[in-house]
Amino acid sequence: MRAATHPDGIVDLSVGTPVDPVDPLIRAALAEVADVPGYPATHGTPQLRAAAVDALARRYGVTGIAPDAVLPAIGTKELIAGLPRLLGLGAADLVVIPEIAYPTYEVGALLAGTRTLRADGVTRLGPESPALIFLNSPSNPTGRVLGVEHLRKVVEFARERGAIVASDECYLGLAWDEPAVSILDPRVCDGDHTGLLAIHSLSKTSNLAGYRAGFVTGDPALVRELLEVRKHAGMIMPFPVQSAMTAALSDDAHEDAQRERYRARRKVLREALRQAGFRVDHSVAGLYLWSTRGENGRATVDWLAERGILAAPGDFYGPTGTDHVRIALTATDERIAAAAKRLTAD
Ligand SMILES: Cc1ncc(COP(=O)(O)O)c(C=O)c1O
Repeated sequence: MRAATHPDGIVDLSVGTPVDPVDPLIRAALAEVADVPGYPATHGTPQLRAAAVDALARRYGVTGIAPDAVLPAIGTKELIAGLPRLLGLGAADLVVIPEIAYPTYEVGALLAGTRTLRADGVTRLGPESPALIFLNSPSNPTGRVLGVEHLRKVVEFARERGAIVASDECYLGLAWDEPAVSILDPRVCDGDHTGLLAIHSLSKTSNLAGYRAGFVTGDPALVRELLEVRKHAGMIMPFPVQSAMTAALSDDAHEDAQRERYRARRKVLREALRQAGFRVDHSVAGLYLWSTRGENGRATVDWLAERGILAAPGDFYGPTGTDHVRIALTATDERIAAAAKRLTAD
């Protein structure tokens, strides 16, 4: 691999895996409950559910969630990949995913055997009545944010056609240039969560990718249905992780500190990309710079590899992503500085 042969080592910006430490407060919460011989509850502890409700209100202004409408996920990837099946969808159903998307939405549709359609707006859907619409704001990979009006239109459309909206809010806590709102925000859904699911991961905002910690919340009836299936399928979050997740959701200081780390890295990398002649599109939030040199993204991946930098080709995320590359902010300050130096050296 060309990037690996750089004398100062590779800078891997191709994946969004966190590199900063897990906060001591979270580690302690995990370690304190190592002696747990019994089965944990699929629904999570009452403390976990209450902490999730409080965190959503405190951090994002989402109100009106009943604690019972919170369900832990063993990382949100498994929940997303399993959602169409868990909801009982099949060949007769249509799942809508974003034009340029995190690949797991399509994986979920494939596993359930549904039809899939890529669309960023409801007008693209014509007379179709989808069973499920995946949203992802802020987006991986583009960093695009869907505003209140856009989200309202999707909710209205979904209600008219009987669709469920699953909003993947993995990057909601990492908004830089535009505010990002939840599908459950009262300005979006008028406080009515019927047919709506919000999916929250702690992987990025709390550096808990290694713990596998996330949850889904929203429509109490849908969450109850998911709980029943997951209970019988054994999709149970380990008790120590439930404890760690409760601690992480109850503390905002570590999350704020992590956000500031990413903010600083983004500034360095964005400026270096600009100086190197890249254009960064969207990317107003989230952990990626959706970048182009006005050529095929595969050529850009090669150009970066010559400088020892690894990026993901845009076509991996959808056919309209061919001219872009996704550059992640998830590297140490030292590696981000190394990337910036290489980008601006020519
Ligand atoms: C948009 C999006 N959703 C969900 C996930 C899954 O995160 P996890 O399974 O770690 O909760 C990721 C991870 O990169 C992501 O980018």
